[in-house]
Amino acid sequence: MKKKTKVIVTGGTGYIGSHTVVELLQQDYEVAIIDNLCNSGKEALKWIEKITGILPVFTQGDLRDVNSCRVFFERHRDAEAVIHFAALKAVGESVQKPLEYYENNISSTLLLLDNMIKYEIPKIIFSSSATVYGKYETLPLTEQSPVFFPATSPYGITKQISEHIIKDAIGAEQSLQAGISLRYFNPVGAHSSGLLGELPQGIPNNLMPFITQTAAGIREKLMVFGDDYDTPDGTAIRDYIHIEDLALAHAVALGRLVDQNYRDPFEVFNLGTGRGSSVMEVIQSFEKTSGLKLNYVITNRRAGDAACFYADAEMAQIELGWKAKYKLDDMTTSAWRWEQYYREKILNNKK
Ligand code: NAD
Ligand code: WQD
Repeated sequence: MKKKTKVIVTGGTGYIGSHTVVELLQQDYEVAIIDNLCNSGKEALKWIEKITGILPVFTQGDLRDVNSCRVFFERHRDAEAVIHFAALKAVGESVQKPLEYYENNISSTLLLLDNMIKYEIPKIIFSSSATVYGKYETLPLTEQSPVFFPATSPYGITKQISEHIIKDAIGAEQSLQAGISLRYFNPVGAHSSGLLGELPQGIPNNLMPFITQTAAGIREKLMVFGDDYDTPDGTAIRDYIHIEDLALAHAVALGRLVDQNYRDPFEVFNLGTGRGSSVMEVIQSFEKTSGLKLNYVITNRRAGDAACFYADAEMAQIELGWKAKYKLDDMTTSAWRWEQYYREKILNNKK
């Protein structure tokens, strides 16, 4: 029997990691997860097993911890690649706690690369973000758009720096053969099974979980941050991308690395739909697909928000053969299905 390709997934119990693990297992990859569970729980493993029939190999460990990493990488030294999701990701919190963000996101990337070199794991996919573009000049954002340093938050800066670190390491270290940095726009939604989705801790910062929690009665009302932007309906525009499209893109990028189909040892791809939706359009889609009326009020703009932000998604289509297929209505439908499942089944069972 042909040996399965093994891939290490850091942050694999988190929101994007867990959906990607499902896709990888369904594509017959062998997966080994390392996560310190600082922003996720072991339940994700159960949900992954429910969907795929496979309980992924899991180690609870911190990527900054030399000893746990040694044991983990020693055990999984036969891996072909790493998908590196593990990071702290809250933009606002990163402004309050910059050192925590620099320390966690940069140190873990450095130690990860160190272990990849030591154990000769040659390929890496990095979770980057559209936030690396910082203050942009023109839209849509292409991979050639300038990356303005510094980004608008410490979180964004950690993504800019990590991209540089990975690129430089690939250029200098023989055993590191190739890497792909994926710059996500606004990932939303949940798995179509309804069994897996986003679990923000505390009050959500992001629009979609705030909408579903408001509809579920956990939040009183949604604040729409500004309706005086220079956009058709005055509310800000983003490029929302369905989590299942995003998960598939990782499997496609992994295939490119494994099959050595890359053009350059370090490549960057935007992952978005190429289409922007306004906050009001997201609300309208949610109301249409759920049949509910959402309680919302218009308030002031949120500091630091851009009016409009969306990807040029052509490069991923041309080079990876990947294109987002889900529409905004699919995103709101799946996000709401997950919110209901989570509230009804999981939280009630826990009581
Ligand atoms: P998440 O918080 O759900 O997942 C990240 C996981 O990493 C968590 O399970 C957390 O416990 C783990 N982790 C953090 N620090 C760790 C460490 N030092 N050692 C081991 N595990 C650690 O976040 P997500 O939304 O799934 O995001 C995954 C990646 O994608 C992150 O790198 C994030 O910056 C990036 N990203 C996310 C978005 C988004 O909107 N969700 C957008 C762009 C980029
Ligand atoms: C979307 C729109 C808000 C909440 C962030 C990060 C980015 C990336 C994705 C990691 C904006 C509006 C929101 C609310 C609202 N993450 N909004 N009321 O800010 O585009 O991107 O997540 O890499 O780096 O910055 O996403 O979901 O917070 O906001 O009106 O309660 O919804 O003003 O226009 P954002 P978001």
